Amino acid sequence: MTQLLTIAIDGPAASGKGTIARRIAARYGLRHLDTGLLYRAVAVLCAGDGIPLADERATGERAMRLDPADLERDGLRSAAAGRGASVVAAHPAVRAALLDWQRDFAQEAPGAVLDGRDIGTVVLPKARAKLFVTADPDVRAARRWRELSKDREIAYRDVLRDIEERDARDAARTDAPMRRAEGADLLDTTTMTIEGAVTEAIHLIDGQLAG
Ligand code: CDP
Repeated sequence: MTQLLTIAIDGPAASGKGTIARRIAARYGLRHLDTGLLYRAVAVLCAGDGIPLADERATGERAMRLDPADLERDGLRSAAAGRGASVVAAHPAVRAALLDWQRDFAQEAPGAVLDGRDIGTVVLPKARAKLFVTADPDVRAARRWRELSKDREIAYRDVLRDIEERDARDAARTDAPMRRAEGADLLDTTTMTIEGAVTEAIHLIDGQLAG
């Protein structure tokens, strides 16, 4: 039986982990799951149903009924959805509801690349390779501002504040806080182009797979 290949890529908002994860999945012939989309979808669905995002029980119940089609909804990439995601993501009931989904996705042949905040620590602690992708906050905010301002006018300082607040909330929560997993290589993309970051990610992952 061929062994499943699972790769965990974590890091803060707009660090480049999503693009790197997609490119890594293509490079190794694996499926890819952007786990942030699950939390974004829960936040958007709850807001649509009038469920207060602070309500752990109700948001957790909504998370249990999440459907794959919900990940295709419009608006999941907005700054508001990101903010809401980091509020519901602090609830243990929401995280528990989404855990099996993420693990089941990773366990299907030939394996998968998952990106998020707690993939290497909680979701796939036994992943064959792990990266923690980061970059300075002002560089991350500039990248996210460029993406978001394609769709609508948005101030850079608001994007920076949003990212800083979200990072602080994600790192401070008690359940599955964002942190570098044991055995994860650190990839700081502050001064890298996306091509450079992908090349370095492949180099680091090849090293872990060979080790
Ligand atoms: O794309 P970006 O890095 O801005 O965010 P994302 O990966 O879409 O995640 C949105 C929010 O979901 C994060 O700020 C976290 O609060 C939460 N999240 C999480 O708690 N655990 C994950 N594995 C993925 C996302």
